[in-house]
Amino acid sequence: MAVDRGCFSSRLGFILAAAGSAVGLGNIWKFPFEVGKGGGAAFVVMYLAFCFILCFPVMVAEIGIGRKTQRNAVGAFTVLGYKNWSIVGYLGLVSGVLILSFYNVVAAWAFGYFVEMVTGNFDIGNNFGEFTKDWVTVGSYAIIFMVGTAYVVSKGVSGGIEKAAKILMPSLFVMIIALIAYALTLPNAMDGIRFYLVPDFSQITGQVVYSALGQAFFSLSLGMGALITYGSYVSKKDNIVSAAASVTLMDVGVATLAGFMIFPFVFSQGIETNGGAGLIFVTLPGVFEALGSTLGVFVGGLFFLLLSFAAFTSTISLLEVPTAYMVDEKNMGRSKATWLVAIFIFLVGIPSMLSNGAVDSLTSFITLPGPGTLDFMTFIGLIASDTFLPLGGFMIAVFTAYVWKKENFNLEMSNGDATMQASLLQRYVSFAIGYICPVLLGAIFIVTVLDNFLGIKILSLILG
Ligand code: PHE
Repeated sequence: MAVDRGCFSSRLGFILAAAGSAVGLGNIWKFPFEVGKGGGAAFVVMYLAFCFILCFPVMVAEIGIGRKTQRNAVGAFTVLGYKNWSIVGYLGLVSGVLILSFYNVVAAWAFGYFVEMVTGNFDIGNNFGEFTKDWVTVGSYAIIFMVGTAYVVSKGVSGGIEKAAKILMPSLFVMIIALIAYALTLPNAMDGIRFYLVPDFSQITGQVVYSALGQAFFSLSLGMGALITYGSYVSKKDNIVSAAASVTLMDVGVATLAGFMIFPFVFSQGIETNGGAGLIFVTLPGVFEALGSTLGVFVGGLFFLLLSFAAFTSTISLLEVPTAYMVDEKNMGRSKATWLVAIFIFLVGIPSMLSNGAVDSLTSFITLPGPGTLDFMTFIGLIASDTFLPLGGFMIAVFTAYVWKKENFNLEMSNGDATMQASLLQRYVSFAIGYICPVLLGAIFIVTVLDNFLGIKILSLILG
């Protein structure tokens, strides 16, 4: 193992970096539009249940595997002695590359909107389609974003990743609270809150369950080894169960807060909730405009800056996964590895960039029985985040409980001290990773994949 892998300087540093990874476009851009498409509060309830019941134990498992082995997502399985299982790590690498390839494009939109707001162009909300179609502009922002990300990752773990998260995460929180306070003063704000909080369970279909599970994994950065990688930089003395609990709470907290901010905005403007990927980009500029030119520029600029910050700490973690792989397994220097991977992923992202209006064949790329006609970028999201991540999570749970074995996992959770009394939370994790996670993840995965890709509606049959 390379001597200079680096590590987090403290428990708080790890928690903030992991929370920075988790909190991102997933919470503020994707979560609201998935809630909107999934019929509101019923989706929220499912998402929350998935996060706490299924994802939290998988998160502890990922961090545990990483910390035990001090390796990247692929190498970790080999170090534990199960080379065949490194396939899970490779699946994670592929997921990470695909996710970052489109994530960087949305991050570029967010950053571009920041620039538009600061220059007072509130009309951009009505011109979202035109904006995303303009691949030269979006591509330039995407290059800026990827270069910034690569710069931080090339600086290493405590000097780059941890430092960025320590500054950006707290600012993010403060900004969200301020925007909620404003949102709640708007007309029809309460209709938005009602949509968000009062569930209508008749809205639940196979597709909604599928997106809610995918959303939970995506939002928590799980199922692709991002937390195996971050876990590999965690001190042997830290309590990983409580650290994972903090990360889960922060991530779910920010997503929940984002809903309180967005839905009052959406309803105050009388905009449809099921607008998909454009939801916040179409809705928000008008809200900011209503504040008048000075305040509007300020609040609008602040919001999209916030969104860019949130995205940035996530792109860092997405890039770190393949970078750590190159550093550990291919003995490449960190800086070289970072820039090579970043360029590769940027190129992989070009079709996504072109699929939002610029090239017709990519804009209506594929038609599936479940979701209908999708653009290339949405399709990649469906494959990588909604399908590969839960699949990865399922395999990580099975691996942890039945291959690596629960005794070893329990010992890792107790920091190697077999005499330590396990906390209630730790006992839940241990139980869930062996039974609840494999069974429910496996079942939900099969049912929802059949539903989405082949149009076989098992869930509707069960629910009647
Ligand atoms: N969790 C991030 C978000 O919510 C996205 C992400 C997914 C980051 C997977 C890393 C790994 O925006």
